[in-house]
Amino acid sequence: QSFFKPIQGASPPPPISRNTKISVVGVGNVGMAIAQTILTQALADEIALVDVNADKLRGEMLDLQHAAAFLPRTKISASVDYSCTFGSDLVIVTAGARQITGESRLNLLQRNLALFSKMIPPLAAGSPDTILLIVSNPVDVLTYVAWKLSGFPSNRVIGSGTNLDSSRFRFLIADHLDLNAQDVQAYIVGEHGDSSVALWSSISIGGVPILSFLERQQIAYETQTLAKIHKEVVEGAYEVIRLKGYTSWAIGYSVASLARSILRDQRSIHPVSVLAKGFYGIDGGEPFLSLPAQLGRSGVLGVTNIHLTEDEAIQLQESAKTILEVQSQLGV
Ligand code: NAI
Ligand code: LAC
Repeated sequence: QSFFKPIQGASPPPPISRNTKISVVGVGNVGMAIAQTILTQALADEIALVDVNADKLRGEMLDLQHAAAFLPRTKISASVDYSCTFGSDLVIVTAGARQITGESRLNLLQRNLALFSKMIPPLAAGSPDTILLIVSNPVDVLTYVAWKLSGFPSNRVIGSGTNLDSSRFRFLIADHLDLNAQDVQAYIVGEHGDSSVALWSSISIGGVPILSFLERQQIAYETQTLAKIHKEVVEGAYEVIRLKGYTSWAIGYSVASLARSILRDQRSIHPVSVLAKGFYGIDGGEPFLSLPAQLGRSGVLGVTNIHLTEDEAIQLQESAKTILEVQSQLGV
């Protein structure tokens, strides 16, 4: 006997539309920031949490479940066994070692490569139609590794890439000009890391291309200010890690924005780590790096063709070279 008595003549419910299931692998600082943002934004009907640390995993699951009265109804499950992820629409991978103060992301490669070799095959086998969204660092190279190990088409293996760096960039520009960051269209592309590239020439504010606007208005802008802002983007994570030990909130919102664009088929453009071969003159090897890509329910729908200045194109080639040098040591 159900709690509610059906009204007279009620028609049976329509066939239940397939629930949306998101799995988050790794329930550390980043995984939990992502999970709680996904919950708050009601992006899934079910969230499955996975980690090797059973106590932390159960604790995080219970703690989120206890918020049920304040959140949209979402099934929250957890297991140390990857089988709890099976049938996911989106698998977000945050498991792995993180940087200590002053450590580069690339320095994490060997530890996280070993982890990916064990983790990606069962995740892919259990959700053969899923989209893999890689966050663990070094995210560009690990997205390449996940692509190779999963056997998925490249449009369904995406790295969070410079979606986060671009948010830092937009914040700093907005802060400098006393604007709302959501009105600043600006991309950082390339490596999510020290060789990232600021696309100054394509920045627009409220739809106005900023540099050509300043030139037309003969408003001097100090190129050193632009360089300083990009430097603050590159150093941003290092500073937060030095101060609080890790980064979490911004990546949580960044990845939730990607999950929304994918699962709600928003077809919006994000700078994310994709197979860059064949774009912007990147022809050697199979580097994954961030380019402005359109995201929808099938993953990467396409890569935009933004005009790059000669200097920006050279920097992007350099970034691709950095990533390929690291990839060449992998033997994957
Ligand atoms: P954390 O140490 O707080 O969490 C890592 C979690 O992974 C731990 O709970 C650990 O038990 C778990 N884990 C380890 N091996 C596992 C396995 N085989 N299966 C499942 N879980 C496993 O680290 P945090 O701060 O959450 O960072 C996680 C990763 O995300 C790091 O690689 C970090 O560099 C990266 N990151 C990437 C960002 C990006 O923009 N791409 C931004 C911030 C962090
Ligand atoms: C970041 C590092 C941790 O927050 O990847 O950008």
